[in-house]
Amino acid sequence: MSDSILSTKGLTREFRGFVAVNGVNLDVKAGNIHALIGPNGAGKTTCFNLLTKFLAPTRGTIAFKGRDITGMKPADVARLGLVRSFQISAVFAHLTALENVRVSLQRARGASFDFWRSEKILTVYEDRARELLEDVGLTEYTDEPAGQLSYGRKRALEIATTLALDP
Ligand SMILES: Nc1ncnc2c1ncn2[C@@H]1O[C@H](COP(=O)(O)OP(=O)(O)O)[C@@H](O)[C@H]1O
Ligand SMILES: [Mg+2]
Repeated sequence: MSDSILSTKGLTREFRGFVAVNGVNLDVKAGNIHALIGPNGAGKTTCFNLLTKFLAPTRGTIAFKGRDITGMKPADVARLGLVRSFQISAVFAHLTALENVRVSLQRARGASFDFWRSEKILTVYEDRARELLEDVGLTEYTDEPAGQLSYGRKRALEIATTLALDP
């Protein structure tokens, strides 16, 4: 379907015979916001892991922007623009909040391994990084090492690093 950005057909995942996700048919349109709700053990995390390729489906297919991504790796899917955050935060603990967002922006621009570049060139990303930190309410933690942020603020930081990839 041309107007759906993410769709699945019969998405199923079994763990040694136990069916955790059973025949999920999704049709997500660009720009829409959805929530997936259910009690503990319902299969929400498994479903997300399937969509973002952290788990392989037992059956079913996943299409993103009209392309079959069922057999793709997580990093390749992320590069296509399907980006996730994690229930347990995944930030670089020893980098500051600003540096975490800046690394994401560099990645988005394909410059992530330019660590040898001068500080001056890296500051190109700083204005945008500060904007993203402001968007998630972390301005006053800009120079705080990410590892020292509370759980909730780590999650907010992760939203900022995810948005930096223009997902
Ligand atoms: N790696 C795994 N091996 C075996 N069973 C799993 C595994 N991951 C999840 N499950 C089971 O699949 C079901 C769905 O789990 P999960 O997707 O984490 O649910 P939710 O996120 O909705 O709480 C649960 O019964 C869970 O025990
Ligand atoms: Mg879960």
